[in-house]
Parts: sequence; structure tokens; C-alpha cells
Amino acid sequence: MVKVAVLGAAGGIGQPLSLLCKMSPLIDELALYDVVPALTGVAVDLSHIATKAQLNSHLPTDDGLKKALTGSDFVIIPAGVPRKPGMTRDDLFKINAGIVETLATGIAQFCPKAFILVISNPVNSTVPIVAEIMKKHGVFDPRRLFGVTTLDVIRASTFTSQLHECTNPTQYTVPVVGGHSGLTIIPLFSQAEPAVKLSHEAIKKLTIRIQFGGDEVVEAKGGSGSATLSMAYAGFKYVYSGSFLRQANLLHAVHGEKGIIESSYVHLSGIPGGENVSKLVGIDYFSVPIELGPDGAHKAHPLGELSDYELNLLEKARPELKGNVAKGVEFISQKS
Ligand code: NAD
Ligand code: LMR
Repeated sequence: MVKVAVLGAAGGIGQPLSLLCKMSPLIDELALYDVVPALTGVAVDLSHIATKAQLNSHLPTDDGLKKALTGSDFVIIPAGVPRKPGMTRDDLFKINAGIVETLATGIAQFCPKAFILVISNPVNSTVPIVAEIMKKHGVFDPRRLFGVTTLDVIRASTFTSQLHECTNPTQYTVPVVGGHSGLTIIPLFSQAEPAVKLSHEAIKKLTIRIQFGGDEVVEAKGGSGSATLSMAYAGFKYVYSGSFLRQANLLHAVHGEKGIIESSYVHLSGIPGGENVSKLVGIDYFSVPIELGPDGAHKAHPLGELSDYELNLLEKARPELKGNVAKGVEFISQKS
């Protein structure tokens, strides 16, 4: 029996993500949680779909969070406010830090062994917040906590294939490491598969487009939010992929499939191979390709040989990422 909880299920990401989860034959129970009454309508709507996943929905009243989380194997968190044009992801910290803190406290209490997928921004800080809460409750397992940076990898594939006039975007795999905001997003074109044939200038332009891909959507939506549909796809892809998606993911890895590699933003110490990356980059939180297994993050892959340009990107990313991590850690430590 696999139970998945979506926290923030009535939102722009939460709704399509819940739809994708409802379509998964590997999910037996889908628990939706949100703070707005519109959730009830979303749940009734989804419940008419004739698929295996049994649906239930919960508002904060009557121990709703506890009911949603109890027995959950996976908790996906897209709860929180999105950006408007002119805002950075860090501007969301003020509101989203507290939301994530509350939800993480619930996870620590009611399903401490669940795999936790954090979508809420700023991911660079919200993942450390979840880790600190889990530590506070004595239940932190770094192998089970993931900041979802999949959208950066998806954008890298899409934008690269567009430049190559390639009709199948999944053909290009470009590792993206670092964090999930502007300059902290580091695409590694030197390690693209197949090798990309682009000038240095073209790679620089493409790097900037990937780093600010989120802003592209925020601007296009003109104040009504940020990426929702591509993010729902990315979040679902991380958890599960069936016959209509190319790669297998966490659900499959938990079921014993081997060799499944996905990038995500993790607490490196405590994940085999993570210490080496942490020493190299000088930060304990970083997005790297992770080999997934039944216990979650089975192995953090090394960064490999970086080009001078990529080393420069890493240097530029480091101070911002360090600051973002410290902000999340301090948000919780100040309270104890
Ligand atoms: P949205 O406003 O459409 O939806 C957010 C939902 O969260 C709402 O339904 C709201 O009621 C709910 N919510 C608020 N407080 C809550 C709480 N305490 N408990 C449960 N639910 C709560 O926003 P969205 O477009 O779905 O974006 C959600 C978050 O995801 C934002 O922070 C956004 O920046 C982030 N995001 C991350 C990525 C990524 O790549 N990691 C991509 C896109 C968006
Ligand atoms: C994204 O990358 O699309 C998200 O982080 C949302 C945002 O604010 O850009």
C-alpha cells in the first residue's frame, strides 16, 4: 500500500499534481491537504476519476493535517505563495518559511519516515527548514528529504533541444547542480549527453535562460503566479513515471529498481558520496544527481570535471546559496 499526501493541493501546482498522482497505478491512497475550502471541490472533482488511488481530503479543522499525514509514504509540499513579477524567490521566505515549518512539524510527528519532496520556494532555504525541524524531533534522515529541482533539469533539456532544432527534448540530458534560484542554478553543459555542439556565447546565453527560466514564466503570467503545470509535471516525474514518461523514479526505486538517477537538492552529509561533494563546494546543501534506492537517496554523484566557465558559475553561486541555507537554519534555531 502506497500513500501519498499533497500539502497545498488546492493550488496552482497542487491541483494538476494531484491529478497526475490520481492517474498513477502505483499509488493506493492519495490524501489532499490545504487551508482553503476550495479543496473540497477539487477532491470531489478528482474522486470521479476511475483509477485505483483512493482519495481523501482534509482541511486544518478536525486534525486534518494529522489525518492527511498519518501512514503517508510520500509527502509532496507545494504549499505557499508564488512570485509576482519583480520578486525574487527569497522574497517569499517571509510567508513560506512559517508554512513549511508547520507542515514539517506535522510530518515529524505523524509520518517521520516518509519521503519528503519540497517544492515551496525558496527551496534553497525551505529544505534546510524541514531538515532542522526533523532534527529537532530526532527523526532526520537526509536520504528521505529532497528539494525538487527537477524543473531546472527539464528546462535545460527543453531549451537545449530547441537550439539544436531537435524534435525530441528528452534526447538531451544536461546535469543541473547547485540550488534553485537565479545564479545558484548551475547547468553543466560540459557533461551534457549527447555532447552539445554550441559556441561559448551560445552556452552562456542558454545558461542564463535556464537560471532565469522561472522568471520567464512569472513575467508571462503577468502577476497571476509562477510555473504550475510544468512544475506539476516535474514533481510527479520525480515521484513516479509510468509508461507515458521516459524515466522511472522514486516510487520505482522504492520498489527495488536500480540505476535510477535524478537530481535534487539534498543535505549532503548522511548520503553516501555526499561528503565529497560537500567538501568540494563548501556547502552542506546542494543539488546533485542522486541515485535513488529503496531508502531514498542511495548515493550522491560527484560533480565530475567542470569547465572553467562552470567553476566560475560555482564561485558566483556559493555566497548566495550559503546565505540562503543559513537563513533557513537560523529561522528554526532562533526559536529553540
Ligand atoms: P498557489 O498559491 O497557487 O498554491 C499554493 C497553495 O498552498 C494554495 O492552495 C494555498 O491555500 C496553500 N497553502 C497556503 N498555506 C498553506 C498551509 N499552511 N498548509 C497547506 N496549504 C497551504 O501557488 P503555486 O503556484 O501552487 O506555488 C506554490 C509554491 O511552489 C510557491 O512557493 C512557488 O514559488 C513554488 N514553486 C516551486 C517550484 C520549484 O521548481 N521548486 C516551481 C514552481 C513553483
Ligand atoms: C520556477 O523555477 O519556475 C519556480 O521556482 C517558480 C518561480 O518563482 O520561478
